[in-house]
Amino acid sequence: TPAGLLDQYGRRATDMRLSLTDKCNLRCTYCMPAEGLEWLAKQAVMSAGEIVRIVRIGVDLLGVRELRLTGGEPLVRADLVDIIAALRSNHPDLPISMTTNGVGLDKKAAALKAAGLTRINVSLDSLHEETFTKLTRRPFLDRVLAGVDAAWAAGLGPVKLNAVLMRGINDAESPSLLAWALDRGYELRFIEQMPLDADHGWTRRNMITAAEIRSLLSVDYVLSPDPRARDGAPAERFEVRRRVAGSESSAVPSLGAEGQSVGAKGPVLGTVGIIASVTEPFCSDCRRTRITAEGKIMSCLFSREEFDLLGFLRAGASDEALAERWQDAMWVKPKAHGMDHTGLGAADFVQPDRSMSAIGG
Ligand code: GTP
Ligand code: 5AD
Ligand code: SF4
Repeated sequence: TPAGLLDQYGRRATDMRLSLTDKCNLRCTYCMPAEGLEWLAKQAVMSAGEIVRIVRIGVDLLGVRELRLTGGEPLVRADLVDIIAALRSNHPDLPISMTTNGVGLDKKAAALKAAGLTRINVSLDSLHEETFTKLTRRPFLDRVLAGVDAAWAAGLGPVKLNAVLMRGINDAESPSLLAWALDRGYELRFIEQMPLDADHGWTRRNMITAAEIRSLLSVDYVLSPDPRARDGAPAERFEVRRRVAGSESSAVPSLGAEGQSVGAKGPVLGTVGIIASVTEPFCSDCRRTRITAEGKIMSCLFSREEFDLLGFLRAGASDEALAERWQDAMWVKPKAHGMDHTGLGAADFVQPDRSMSAIGG
């Protein structure tokens, strides 16, 4: 299958996101309800062997070039280290990254690195204990911070941090969150909240937009476009410099008419990313294919159709037949999520039934 995972709009998926479990030990309000969700039965979730086979089909037959492990929370899977070791032994050169909430990472970071994990992204929405606990409904801030530092120390960097901003909850904290990350050499990304929460509590008004984020940061910092290619990544990256006293503290743009930075003096302190899924969508350059914990192919976070791969595999399908089904699923990948600027108000946008934790971040 030399064509790989093509869709009808000409995009090719080379970036595979595989969810290891639907379970999670936090209850972030933008994702899960307080009481949790009904977890999948163990039997319904892909086994280590099934995961290894599916990844091999993706890489060997379909042109997958990068793998990201997600959840739920991947660290709650007892055989996580073994899975990574098996993947690594099959694919010596494949970049394998993981997105985690960081709880328990302090104890696992070294073993993950030794097993062959390449790098790690950690969700961190607040550095204030009270805010963190309100947001995740669990008092685990210290454990997450220990996890982030352990990942760095274990050589799992560059460490990226994900912060979903919410109005009146952690938006005012964004400049200090950035200062903290810059200080330690972590790449922070601010994320527009998407309507993917199980409680269906998302509102356009409470979403902090990319424009607002840039403006919040521009009081202390000057952002200029990162020269590195975006390569289909969700995050638009900026180099960060301190705003020097006396320079115009304009909101946006910190960029001049020709795109050159204005008031940018002094050293680059680091990089910040902004993931503007709602107001500045990046669907047209999307390179992602997703496999849920129960082995379903999702061509998009917001696709309404799911293609069962695991059931087919368990029924005895060949590698070639599985690859073909995967291609069929990707061919009908939606052109875009359709939320546009108005979010849920958009013409035909319907919030998916599954929450982020059940799709796989
Ligand atoms: P890097 O390669 O490290 O840059 O990874 P990443 O940013 O792709 O991965 P991560 O799992 O850290 O995802 C960060 C955020 O990107 C998520 O919280 C989502 O908000 C967003 N994201 C990831 N994939 C998609 C996608 O397919 N569509 C949309 N709209 N957002 C996505
Ligand atoms: N909107 C945007 N990002 C979300 N995440 C979880 N739910 C949402 C949402 N509704 C993020 C988490 C995590 C990543 C995998 O997805 O912050 O970092
Ligand atoms: Fe939070 Fe991620 Fe768990 Fe969802 S899956 S509740 S975003 S930590």
